[in-house]
Amino acid sequence: MTKLLHIRELRAYYGRTTALHGISFDVQEGNVTALLGANGAGKTTTLRAISGMVKRSGEIMLKERSLINVQTEDIARLGVAHVPSGRGTFEKQTVENNLKLGAISRRDKTGIVADIEMVYSYFPILKQRRDQQAGLLSGGQQQMLAVGRALMLRPKLLLLDEPSFGIAPLVVREIFEIFRRLNRELRTSILLVEQNASIALQLADHAYLIETGRIVFSGTSADIRNNEQLRRSYLGH
Ligand SMILES: Nc1ncnc2c1ncn2[C@@H]1O[C@H](COP(=O)(O)OP(=O)(O)O)[C@@H](O)[C@H]1O
Ligand SMILES: [Mg+2]
Repeated sequence: MTKLLHIRELRAYYGRTTALHGISFDVQEGNVTALLGANGAGKTTTLRAISGMVKRSGEIMLKERSLINVQTEDIARLGVAHVPSGRGTFEKQTVENNLKLGAISRRDKTGIVADIEMVYSYFPILKQRRDQQAGLLSGGQQQMLAVGRALMLRPKLLLLDEPSFGIAPLVVREIFEIFRRLNRELRTSILLVEQNASIALQLADHAYLIETGRIVFSGTSADIRNNEQLRRSYLGH
């Protein structure tokens, strides 16, 4: 297996507060890797640190390329697409314009048109709603649009921040099934941050547990399920 993302001794800071205390983990190419932890553990900060949205130090390698001194927009251009929690779609814009805005750094018009159709093939409901204002979509549909917009960058790596948050369980299952297809069919690697460990572990090849800015466990989904203490803490049974 080839390593796509290699993180060592990553620290992140909010002013004088240290939120990540030197975390290390990898994302293998083609895999879904989950980062699980309670509220306030440092999951969002980890994604922000990778994307250059927070002050950070340590080592972040995307293949052979160091990202530690690279700006957010250039990190996106290098193939890392960040879907923040709370989605961040442009509410007043139509669904289709949101997808076009996701491709704003691209110049290949025919490729963009083809990729909008590609996104619609994964999320047919977005095609039905293409002329509607994004703000009028349901929570699940807005999550789909946020992921669709990220796909318009043709990313190597998708960073997903709590995509299940605030969405009905049935829709969560539907969206995670689409993540599985994106991973298999487009070979998009995924770093998935979730408080909902049980749904995340169904998708993930590998999982890390984070507590107060430190990685406390690394293993497969099965490793976590087979560990009674971890199962109780993270899966609640
Ligand atoms: N903008 C911020 N300013 C100061 N502290 C923050 C900020 N965002 C998060 N934190 C702190 O950093 C820690 C990790 O937060 P976060 O990464 O959001 O956790 P998670 O996403 O796992 O819930 C928490 O202690 C939180 O209070
Ligand atoms: Mg968070």
